[in-house]
Amino acid sequence: MLEIYTIGEEILREKCKKVDKFDSALELLVNAMFEKMDEADGVGLAAPQVGVDLRVFVIDDHRGVRKAFINPEIVETSMEECSMEEGCLSIPGVYTYLTRSKKVTVQAQDVKGKTFRLEADDLLARAVQHENDHLNGVLFVDRLDEKSRIKLIRTYERKNKLKRGSVE
Ligand code: NI
Repeated sequence: MLEIYTIGEEILREKCKKVDKFDSALELLVNAMFEKMDEADGVGLAAPQVGVDLRVFVIDDHRGVRKAFINPEIVETSMEECSMEEGCLSIPGVYTYLTRSKKVTVQAQDVKGKTFRLEADDLLARAVQHENDHLNGVLFVDRLDEKSRIKLIRTYERKNKLKRGSVE
């Protein structure tokens, strides 16, 4: 079973590597990630969150889309934005409203290496942007202004009984 890495771990800050082997090891990773995401009741999970330095994420929007995205690229983003409450399994217990594009088009490969394109709206678009950020070492708190970010981190530390300033 995979372990979820939390903020402060170096792997969450890395730019992940492209997948070039579509083999059974990749399939095992993706299946384990789905399992972990379901167990944690999440909408998405990215490979660096389970300590794997690869451009892979899985999403289940609980509205009919359950998919693995390998080597994803966001190829279009809408000018229209929306604010939605966001959280992350790597920063458990804290949530905040964040503005992002309302719609995105993502191109990715499936677990067999076949390329697909998906137009995503609302929660799905949100999840794609959030998970894609993880592959570039970006966490949702980085998208807040400095003051709000520090405040959220302090709340996280308090809730998780961590020493103040320990994840900075
Ligand atoms: Ni996350």
